[in-house]
Amino acid sequence: MGTYVVTGAASGIGRASADRLRADGHRVIGVDLRDTDVTADLSTDDGRRAAIDAVIAEAGVRLDGAVMAAGLGPAKGRERLIVDVNVLGVTELLDGLRPALAASGNAKVVVLGSNSTTTTPMVPRRAVRRLVDGDLDGAVRQIRRRAGISGPVAYAASKIAVTRWCRIRAVTDDWAGAGIRLNVLAPGPVLTPLLQAQLESSTGSQVRSFPMPIREFGTPGQLAEWITMLLSPAANSTVGSVIVVDGGTDALIRPRDW
Ligand code: NAI
Repeated sequence: MGTYVVTGAASGIGRASADRLRADGHRVIGVDLRDTDVTADLSTDDGRRAAIDAVIAEAGVRLDGAVMAAGLGPAKGRERLIVDVNVLGVTELLDGLRPALAASGNAKVVVLGSNSTTTTPMVPRRAVRRLVDGDLDGAVRQIRRRAGISGPVAYAASKIAVTRWCRIRAVTDDWAGAGIRLNVLAPGPVLTPLLQAQLESSTGSQVRSFPMPIREFGTPGQLAEWITMLLSPAANSTVGSVIVVDGGTDALIRPRDW
């Protein structure tokens, strides 16, 4: 049985994944703002550092995998918070935990991306490049120029950046070369508190009319099944992949982009 860290373990997809891993007999170290093993605010430098230290102290020198599910949904006025949590809450944590993951020799990491990465219009490419390069101030300045849609743009930019970060690192000596399989799961709408907040917001009608051939939201339990598989030996050959689980939206919108 393995030892796994799950961020965002107090709610939604992270919670379902932690429950599923525990039910399978694994040890799970949850990280969240509340209601789990390690309480830490991943939007701040101090919080991220404290989370890394606490996870290493709990796990010892070796971690078998990580599920990076802490995240914030689109909301106007919190562009900076979105990129802090959705980008640095993943990249800095994974950099800090990498030695413990490498010590396992066959670790698996699943990062929660999003199908907003391919379905959101007007995401400034330069903002994404800046996020990948760690210039969050510059990125947020550009995102805020998209007046009226800066919330969804910040969210999509954060998820594109974190996906790119994963794909760039996944194939390197430090990651694949150290036996760590780093992959991204890109869901469409999944019925969690994050989606519920969007449905109840002023953009709720847009969320409801989002084009989705299957016409039903995903569930946290379905995503937990995918995550469990991406942490299992079934994923030994899966490296730097983006697995889209979105009810068909991506195929509907860009059927020939392959
Ligand atoms: P959720 O809101 O149910 O859970 C997210 C968790 O992240 C919460 O427990 C929250 O406390 C934690 N979190 C937020 N800010 C934090 C911070 N500063 N420090 C520590 N923890 C923090 O959301 P859900 O839906 O389970 O989302 C999980 C991941 O999946 C997110 O990265 C989200 O962007 C992604 N996703 C969700 C989709 C959906 O429709 N629900 C669709 C596509 C991607």
